[in-house]
Amino acid sequence: QLMIVTIDGVAASGKSSVSGGVARALGVPYVSSGLLYRAATLLGLEAGLDLHDAPALLAHLQTHPLRLEPLAEGNRVWQDGRELTDELHSTRVDRGVSVVAVLPEVRAWVDAQLRALPSPFVAEGRDMGTNVFPRAGAKFYLTASPHIRAQRRAQERPEDVPAIEAALIRRDELDRVQSAPALDAVVIDTGPLTLDGVIQTILAQLPE
Ligand code: C5P
Repeated sequence: QLMIVTIDGVAASGKSSVSGGVARALGVPYVSSGLLYRAATLLGLEAGLDLHDAPALLAHLQTHPLRLEPLAEGNRVWQDGRELTDELHSTRVDRGVSVVAVLPEVRAWVDAQLRALPSPFVAEGRDMGTNVFPRAGAKFYLTASPHIRAQRRAQERPEDVPAIEAALIRRDELDRVQSAPALDAVVIDTGPLTLDGVIQTILAQLPE
């Protein structure tokens, strides 16, 4: 699967911005798998469901189908005619998403949607290189210290840096199982790099 590049990494490591930049340079779309977990969480919260209740969540997702639109300039998520995208990065979704993302039934539901997308594309998330696209042509894994990630996130969330840092550490811990880097992934510490620096590092390592 030379046509698939995977970019995994911890929360707020810059995966979406980096994936968008790499995808634009290659002239292909990128696919943000986290948005599907976030959208499933939002629908569960809105319906008042217990987020641990996999059968109830799955039944709700079946009757309210979600569609990920993997545009190069930014991914969007739709539920019938309603666009959910702007509501997916709220603090309540941040808090609930790891509970939903551990459910095997939800993971299978997300994986099936991702595997049905036409390649080529850049896929971004936690387990793109390990579980979803193990035969991808190139794999990357982004890291950065919790403090640096919290400082970056503070520009886009109402909370202050210490609160964001604590929440990120908690989410890393909850996501640990599905967040291991693929053995054949190139690990990049984004701490000392600019966004463009990370993008150029990845582009320089892609096979011809
Ligand atoms: O990447 P993002 O932070 O938007 O992902 C939101 C959440 O979705 C993660 O904290 C994780 O719980 C879940 N996720 C996952 N596997 C992926 C992508 C996201 O478990 N491939």
